[in-house]
Amino acid sequence: MSETKGLEGVTAGNTSICTVGKEGDDLKYRGYSIIDLSNHALFEEVAYLLLHKKLPTQAELDSFLEKLHSVRGLSQSTQTALKALPKDAHPMDVLRTGVSILGCEYPETDDNTWEVAHRLLANLPEMVLTWHAHHNPVDSTSSNETSIAGCFLEKLLGKPVLDEDRASMNCSLILYAEHGFNASTFACRVTTATLSDMYSAVCSGIGTLKGPLHGGANEKAMEMIKQFTSVDQAVAFINDALEKKIKIMGFGHRVYKIKDPRSDFMKNYTKRLAERLGDNMYFDISVAIEKTMKEKKGMFPNVDFYAAAFYYYLGIPIPLYTPIFAISRVSGWIAHIFEQRENNRLIRPKAEYVGPESQTFIPISERN
Ligand SMILES: CC(C)(COP(=O)(O)OP(=O)(O)OC[C@H]1O[C@@H](n2cnc3c(N)ncnc32)[C@H](O)[C@@H]1OP(=O)(O)O)[C@@H](O)C(=O)NCCC(=O)NCCS
Repeated sequence: MSETKGLEGVTAGNTSICTVGKEGDDLKYRGYSIIDLSNHALFEEVAYLLLHKKLPTQAELDSFLEKLHSVRGLSQSTQTALKALPKDAHPMDVLRTGVSILGCEYPETDDNTWEVAHRLLANLPEMVLTWHAHHNPVDSTSSNETSIAGCFLEKLLGKPVLDEDRASMNCSLILYAEHGFNASTFACRVTTATLSDMYSAVCSGIGTLKGPLHGGANEKAMEMIKQFTSVDQAVAFINDALEKKIKIMGFGHRVYKIKDPRSDFMKNYTKRLAERLGDNMYFDISVAIEKTMKEKKGMFPNVDFYAAAFYYYLGIPIPLYTPIFAISRVSGWIAHIFEQRENNRLIRPKAEYVGPESQTFIPISERN
């Protein structure tokens, strides 16, 4: 049997949650185009769609928001535990730890699955904010914002946010919410298939998303962009890196072959923000990198590339980019956890053995 490296092209199960690149460059959540959802919906509306398989009515959305609000907030002991984590810890490790603590405080039972789902959706932002504000105090960490996007931004930055920034942040959360059998979602489903609990599955997802080939790419992209002070420098760097066969973070995709439909949204928001701030440098550098990658490799940016400069212009510290991805993607993860449970079977592929055949055991005293 020949190996399918990285399981490329392998169908690993059925899903009714999302289609990725079915027509080359499209993305749909439960049949709704990402373009329509991004242009018109609230992130929580999309989370409801993913979890409940339908768009909510206004009354259903209000009740959903109320449920999230009612479970938002960490216990004193969780806050103390998160604040005790080192300042230089990676926030994704903080998030993973926070989810583990929450799982010990409010374990999942047969009767409270929905409450656990709401607790996770509402509290991932709180975990990041609690730890971050402890080490980087801001004037105010309170917010009257009801939306996850607005509340997160306002508490993080310690000041009220403009409508435009809340709206574009909301859109970035929608774009990150779901993406089929991507690596972190698949990790959640594997954990779920053993009949483990929702918190454990989400911890698997967070650990998997952290890697730079997956969610960590937005941070790595910004670290790269930030080292340049001119377009020429950036272009020279990319040319050199491609010669050396170094991967450029924020480019390429396993599934999309024409373009990543999420990228245009992030590019437009970044452009608008850069213009408003009167600081185009990182936007211009990003555009030059996109152009060079197109010319030299025929590659297009994925969602993470322009998300990098977008979050940077918003004033968000780079190490929080991947946690923002997780704050959004947890909605997709939970939808997949529910779907896996609806028709479960242990996920256990086989491997082609390529090691040595029958070896004779040698006692340790006789080995060289
Ligand atoms: C997303 C990604 C992991 C998909 O990986 P994949 O389907 O396994 O593709 P491969 O890593 O096998 O790459 C295939 C070829 O494209 C090249 N390539 C892929 N991504 C590249 C990138 N970002 N920059 C430069 N070259 C790239 C590889 O070097 C390889 O070239 P080769 O055939 O000459 O060796 C990959 O494109 C990547 O690492 N991108 C950067 C990380 C990133 O942005 N991740 C976020 C994804 S949303």
